[in-house]
Amino acid sequence: MRIGIDRIGTYIPSEVLPAEVLADAREIPVGKLKQGLGVHAMAVVPPWEDTVSLAANAALRALGDTVSVEEIGLCIVGTESGVDHSKPAAIFVHELLGLPSTCRTYEVKHACFGGTAALLTAMDWIASGSARGRKALVIASDIAKYPPGSAGEPTQGAGAVALVVSEDPALVEMDRSCTGVFAGQVHDFWRPLDQTQAIVDGKYSVDCYLEALEHAFADYARQQEGRDDADQPLSDRFARLVFHAPFPRMASKAHARMVVSDWKAHAARSLELPDDLTDLVERDAQARVDPTLWANQLIGNTYTASMYFGLAGLLEREATELEGKLLGFFSYGSGCCSEFFAGRVVAGASRVAGEIGLGEMIDRRKEVSMAEYERHHAKPDLRAMESPEKPGSHFSGPIYFSGTTDEKRTYAAQERGASFVR
Ligand code: COA
Repeated sequence: MRIGIDRIGTYIPSEVLPAEVLADAREIPVGKLKQGLGVHAMAVVPPWEDTVSLAANAALRALGDTVSVEEIGLCIVGTESGVDHSKPAAIFVHELLGLPSTCRTYEVKHACFGGTAALLTAMDWIASGSARGRKALVIASDIAKYPPGSAGEPTQGAGAVALVVSEDPALVEMDRSCTGVFAGQVHDFWRPLDQTQAIVDGKYSVDCYLEALEHAFADYARQQEGRDDADQPLSDRFARLVFHAPFPRMASKAHARMVVSDWKAHAARSLELPDDLTDLVERDAQARVDPTLWANQLIGNTYTASMYFGLAGLLEREATELEGKLLGFFSYGSGCCSEFFAGRVVAGASRVAGEIGLGEMIDRRKEVSMAEYERHHAKPDLRAMESPEKPGSHFSGPIYFSGTTDEKRTYAAQERGASFVR
């Protein structure tokens, strides 16, 4: 059975803070943000947007005019910035989109791995036969938020990516026969129940990510032993490598760690390698990793969604030349669980990828000043926001957070202006 990603919808908040403005205010060299971290701008979340509205808006774009809500039998939201400890973001999305009452609906959490956990579960649901011909709606939605002035502040961001997962997918057919997994308990990033901002041991989290990648790729490689193309290093078979990118330079570090150990292992058998691999690694990253990072550079960290923004941006720009080619994915969630897996871009994918519209949405955002960013950042706990500001004219919506009544969250759609909450 051919299973994979049939459609992708992306959504980002309508405001943005350029790296220059943040660097200037915090008196750090802009080169550290742009070259050191790969961050050129970051999405800023105005009071009328939250993890649910981001998810619902991405989902609307994924379904478009092509997929009917009646076709959806499973809706999973992966997030680590949910709006409630008990009630899942997914059930709000279920109502906002008008999904069928027969659609299984829930939220999953494992830090930035939640979106991938949802995707893999959705594929298993289809492969098991439980789907009975229906499709799954998988949404990764997050707001990455750190204290002002902290080392993590330049690696904030927000956004959502929704995937329609189905049989005979139009975009990427996933290889379900082999994935490499690594999981283990580490305290690199966590958010205690009473806190709205994460605690992160930044440098340690980078080390944990890289170690998890080595183990997950080794698990993948073990399962590939005896493959037909063994004369080529395993990592070279992927036309592009899409890494989880909490900040874009993390993907370059991941690529270097992966290919160098893979090339060296292969060199022991047949490959001739120069003593200094720096140039080779850099050229390879420019060709196979950089094309996946342009959107992340302009949006910032989106936790569960970051790898899928990489995929969406890649397909938007390169689907035509990638048709028939294999992509490698590495997903990492702090704490930690990680997985390396692969998928092949489907012939004809460029027709669907042409509708993603991510670049257009990025260009439409309103640049905010440092003062506006700080005002939004300091907004009170959402529970207290009985009536947040209404969306500005730059809002691309349509769905927005309209406040809380008796601790119940409500959402509305701009065109209709009516609350969806019954
Ligand atoms: N011009 C160019 N590059 C510069 C620079 C300048 N003026 N100043 C510093 N840099 C480079 C550094 O050399 C470093 O590059 P390297 O990683 O290749 O060595 C990079 O910029 C970052 O500088 P560093 O001093 O390490 O940054 P930091 O102490 O502010 O921390 C993080 C960076 C990522 C650890 C921090 O932003 C963080 O905690 N983020 C949240 C956690 C996270 O995203 N974890 C990822 C794994 S899930």
